[in-house]
Amino acid sequence: MTMPSAPKIIRSVRELRAWSRAQRLEHRRIALVPTMGALHDGHLALIDIAQQHCERTVVSIFVNPTQFNESADFASYPRTFDVDAAQCQRREVDVIFAPTAEEMYPNGSRTTIRVGPIATRWEGEHRPGHFDGVATIVAKLFLACEPDVAVFGTKDFQQLAVIRQVALDLNLPADIVGVPTIREPDGLAMSSRNVRLSNDQRQAACTIFRAMNEAQHLLTDTSQSIEDIRQHVVNEIEMSGGVIDYVAIVDPVTLEPIEDFSEAQMLVAATFGTVRLIDNLRLRRDPSPTFGVR
Ligand code: PAF
Repeated sequence: MTMPSAPKIIRSVRELRAWSRAQRLEHRRIALVPTMGALHDGHLALIDIAQQHCERTVVSIFVNPTQFNESADFASYPRTFDVDAAQCQRREVDVIFAPTAEEMYPNGSRTTIRVGPIATRWEGEHRPGHFDGVATIVAKLFLACEPDVAVFGTKDFQQLAVIRQVALDLNLPADIVGVPTIREPDGLAMSSRNVRLSNDQRQAACTIFRAMNEAQHLLTDTSQSIEDIRQHVVNEIEMSGGVIDYVAIVDPVTLEPIEDFSEAQMLVAATFGTVRLIDNLRLRRDPSPTFGVR
């Protein structure tokens, strides 16, 4: 089997914009998959979906400094460009956009997008400024690439909600597509951070998905209160050694806590060792056959 040709690697905003406009002149639609690299099967699923929507796919690889709260976390974020580029080649990605920090934030940049209330709870509370950094870089990537479609994972549930809000508020013309979480066989949500878990932490971390599924069973099969169900998940994760930032049951659109619902989203953030993981699951009072895939 012949290897597909290597993606074009673009490092400047000017060149990406020129490429994108040339594609548009030829009536080709462009899908953007924003990433911070260290690509795993979850990212590859995003690329597959992008390719179903558009004739051209751009994968951006940029470890965005403005969304990290701790410089140590930024410094230790996995950077695996050559492996990522090979994965993109196998997936027949057209362009990898891999700018420097100076290219994305010229002269240090002073302008930041401040996202409203949807960004203040949960991740926003534990990582102040994180979503402003995400919103700012995503808007910059959209301005550079001018995509028709942009594809994001549902694992970062609040991030997806924030990006939808920003796209709406700023009239960004791209369609935002959310892709269900891809999981390891034991249920752990795929994440670039998973490689930093020790074997024991890795085993403990899959409690998150197990406990969220138990919450779904408690919801449909028992008369336990929403708070008791939430507390069950807290207890399970803590017993496995995880340190919890939050376990919440929220409205899937506003992300406000709810008790009376037919569908809600369970959001979890917990740290195992030094690795902070987030995950989420749709809870349904009357679960449909798709239960468990998100
Ligand atoms: O989800 C991520 O990898 C990042 O937050 C994103 C959307 C690429 C912005 O840096």
